[in-house]
Order: sequence, then structure tokens, then C-alpha cells
Amino acid sequence: MDVIDAIMTRRSIRRYRPLPIPECDIERILKAAMAAPSSKNEQPWVFTVIDDRELLNKIPKFHPHAEMIKSSPVAILVCADRKRFLSENIWIQDCAAATLNILLAAHGLRLGAVWLGIYPRVERVRGMSKLVNLPKHIVPFSLVALGYPAEKRSPADRFDPDRIHRNRWEH
Ligand SMILES: Cc1cc2nc3c(=O)[nH]c(=O)nc-3n(C[C@H](O)[C@H](O)[C@H](O)COP(=O)(O)O)c2cc1C
Repeated sequence: MDVIDAIMTRRSIRRYRPLPIPECDIERILKAAMAAPSSKNEQPWVFTVIDDRELLNKIPKFHPHAEMIKSSPVAILVCADRKRFLSENIWIQDCAAATLNILLAAHGLRLGAVWLGIYPRVERVRGMSKLVNLPKHIVPFSLVALGYPAEKRSPADRFDPDRIHRNRWEH
């Protein structure tokens, strides 16, 4: 799959087949995550691979849009390590870039994935931190549910030329 194909055909997948994901694919996905660009090359990210069924099943208790996690064999929690920050607040963009790399890498490996927002929702941040026992300096940013797809979704055509401007805007 070339990179434009991967970007244009990726969709959020929320139904998964009950199959484990090989460890080598998880590692490739994590390598893709850590290949993301980051401000000042700060690389503030740290990751937690969650494949304990009991832990996964508890997530919808504090996350209102995470029911699909109950059928996902594994999820990757993207976090930021405050001790690595060189400036305040830029980490959010870095972690978002890493999260998107995870989605695209998963798609490239024919896996399904969906981004579940955690930060800055206080209840979700607290819930995730407690669930996997994060130390105080680790901030959970997003969770990506992964699995072999049990649904097919067509590419979305969201191209809208009206949203494109060139140089100075006309009013
Ligand atoms: C910051 C962010 C938070 C999201 N949180 C959730 C979520 O909690 N639950 C969910 O099912 N999807 C979530 N999504 C996925 C979006 O719903 C999805 O990307 C959007 O509907 C577009 O669909 P697509 O990914 O198939 O192109 C999130 C996406 C982003 C970027």
C-alpha cells in the first residue's frame, strides 16, 4: 500500500475478529509511532500496550465512547512523559502525530484501529491513569483500539475545495 493510498483508505474500525495480533506487528506499529515528528525533537511519548482482557473490559466504565474495546484484543495507550517536556503544551501535537502514525501503520498491516480520545477529559485521564497505574508525571493522551477488522468501511471523500485558500483570503 503506498502512503497516499493508506491515508485515503484509512477509516475508524470498531468491530474486530477474535484473533490475537502478532507481537512483531505491535512492535512495527510502535516503531511507526516513535517515528513521528515532534517539536524540538522532544519525543515526549511513552506507550502502554494493553492486552489484559479484564483491563480492556473496564475501559467503557469511564470512557463513554469505548464499547468497541471489549472486542479488541489489544490497545495502545499513548502517553506523554512530563519529565521529557522542553516546553509546555506542545506535547499534545507530538502525541497526536504519534497516534496518527499508529492508525496508519495498523491500516498498512491490514489491521483495524480507532483513536479514542483521553486527554483533556478529566474523567478519562483519571480512569486510564488508575487502570494501568500511571505515575504522576505520565499523562494519558489517547488510546488506540486494534484488531483484525470484522467490518469493511469505504474510503471517505472529504475533499472540499471551498476550504482551500491561496495567499490572502478574499472577503
Ligand atoms: C481526537 C479524537 C478523538 C476520538 N475519540 C473517539 C472515541 O472516543 N470513540 C470513537 O469511537 N471514535 C473516536 N474518534 C474517531 C472519530 O470518531 C473518527 O476519526 C471520525 O468519525 C472520522 O472517521 P474515520 O476515522 O473513519 O475517518 C476520535 C478521533 C479523534 C481524532
